[in-house]
Amino acid sequence: MPELKKDISNTKKEFSVILAKVTNENELEKIRLTFLSRQGKIATLMKSLKPLSLDEKKECGPLLNKLKQEIELLYKTKQKELAVQQAQQENLKQKYFDVSAYSPNQLYGGLTPYSQVAQMVEDIFISMGYDIADGPEVETDYYNFQALNIPENHPARDMQDTFWLDVPGMLLRTQTSPIQIRYMENNKPPIAVIAPGRTYRHEATDASHDFTFAQVEGLYIDKNVSISHLLATIKELIQKIFDSKKIDIRVRPGYFPFVEPAVEVDFSCPFCKSGCSVCKQTRWIELVPGGLVHPNVLRHGGIDPSKYSGFAFGLGLTRLVMLKYAINDIRLLHGNKVDFLQQF
Ligand code: DAH
Repeated sequence: MPELKKDISNTKKEFSVILAKVTNENELEKIRLTFLSRQGKIATLMKSLKPLSLDEKKECGPLLNKLKQEIELLYKTKQKELAVQQAQQENLKQKYFDVSAYSPNQLYGGLTPYSQVAQMVEDIFISMGYDIADGPEVETDYYNFQALNIPENHPARDMQDTFWLDVPGMLLRTQTSPIQIRYMENNKPPIAVIAPGRTYRHEATDASHDFTFAQVEGLYIDKNVSISHLLATIKELIQKIFDSKKIDIRVRPGYFPFVEPAVEVDFSCPFCKSGCSVCKQTRWIELVPGGLVHPNVLRHGGIDPSKYSGFAFGLGLTRLVMLKYAINDIRLLHGNKVDFLQQF
């Protein structure tokens, strides 16, 4: 009997010591199982009452009941305490939740080199008062060729190997020039517009050729437009893109059926003074063909060539991106190599 009394007071002490160390609900649950469950210490003490005499039971019974009540009360108090603590922590978390906090190993999205250079070109032309236009990548023979003064069986079609679609007369546009016609149909002169976009050609791929690449078409139509307007515009563009007033241009004759005269505009290499691998030791880089819009093309756009004239050009956007960022393989631009893209 004195042993049971001892056990009762020890159990209370033991419970208090362990309870003081409890810091979370899991630990609290463990202590409940140890002391208050059916197989727990209190239940075991209760069982040990059984063999005792009536007098002994009268003495120890109330002691045990008191122990049980005390332990239950301590347990409940701790339970409430933990709940309050947890609520406070949640509140703090919400109050100090920092949306800009750094978290390691995040992958950030970004603009591809294409988009970056396209935006740069767009900004330059917007500053000169140009509009930005778009057009379909699936085009008709009419807009991609005929309206641009390239009738059926014209040898110039061979210059642009075409992806023809199963639908007769439909193709993947080989150039952004059809947007010229679409824009003229819907706008009256004076016209100043550029149209960046993706183009497709049925070509074998290697480091400098791909079956898809991007161009920026340019069109300017007003009264008395001359080739010098075209040259001044291209010079301004190149100087701004490479951020150097020292860049010069030179002009060679070219051939495109939709412009007459047609020119190839080269610019002096911004990367060297005496020849480098970018300009292939020539000091000049070929980038922008253009010319004065052919009267037939103006007519197809619904514009009277006796009143208006204009210039057009086709900037090789893919080539410009490669030049600007010294990318030596065109295929990288359309690949999904994250380590390549992360550099931009
Ligand atoms: N569309 C031509 C091409 O893809 C480039 C071009 C040349 C566009 C002369 C023009 C131009 O607007 O006037 O090769």
